[in-house]
Amino acid sequence: MKVLIAEDYNEMSKKASDILFHAIVTNKKVVLGLATGGTPITTYDLLVESIKASKQSLTHVHTINLDEYVGLQSDCRHSYHRFMEEHLFQHISIPTNQTHLPNGATTDLHIECQRYEELIASHGGIDLQLLGIGKNGHIGFNEPGTSFLTNTHIVNLTPSTIKANARFFSSIDEVPKQAITMGISTIMKSKCILLLASGKSKATAIKELLEGQITEKCPATILQKHPDLIVVADKDALSEVKEDTLEKLGKVQNELFFTKTTFS
Ligand code: F6R
Repeated sequence: MKVLIAEDYNEMSKKASDILFHAIVTNKKVVLGLATGGTPITTYDLLVESIKASKQSLTHVHTINLDEYVGLQSDCRHSYHRFMEEHLFQHISIPTNQTHLPNGATTDLHIECQRYEELIASHGGIDLQLLGIGKNGHIGFNEPGTSFLTNTHIVNLTPSTIKANARFFSSIDEVPKQAITMGISTIMKSKCILLLASGKSKATAIKELLEGQITEKCPATILQKHPDLIVVADKDALSEVKEDTLEKLGKVQNELFFTKTTFS
């Protein structure tokens, strides 16, 4: 595990976008696992800027998102499809047939989960998976109590996640109650994981991730076992973590280390 410390949200976003951009420019084919939510928004803005400034071709880039709400059409303004369009896809030119999200509007959700696992396998797995983290330690929509053995599956969202996500909707009643998400086992198969966290509200979850016991009560703790995990967190998100822990885990001051990871 590597922990990259950022001053604040903007610096976290810059470090994360540099890592994603590096993965794009140094690989002949790259499969990026992508996330939605508030955390990666500026990361995507900065990635768009780097891609435009360098005129980097994206024909070798494939993206596979973590999750999608059940029951929303892809063009619904609250869907994760729409989020990805607005924050990333419409600004750059990854071939449309190379961008993938679960279809939450399908009638057979179980077949969709199976299709999604097969899709990931047919791409040779995910090279670099971007993750945010929930206040309760969820990753993707894998809420506390989810088995570490899960593949892509349907989840009932917890009241706390529904409440947290209500900020993106006009009212809490509009927030869907279910989602399709990559499972913990799916996420763990990614070759490299890049987890981002910003702000005091994530401090307890980040402390658990870095110092806690591995337990299904806090899904993110399983990432301690991942062979190539990079955590990029700002000082507020790291405020409950002991300095000793950071030294032990391999705190790094800048993103140059990334050129030495197994992934690239
Ligand atoms: C998003 C996702 C979620 C979020 C998490 C943090 O695709 O799977 O796990 O990463 O809920 O959300 P924000 O970034 O809004 O705090």
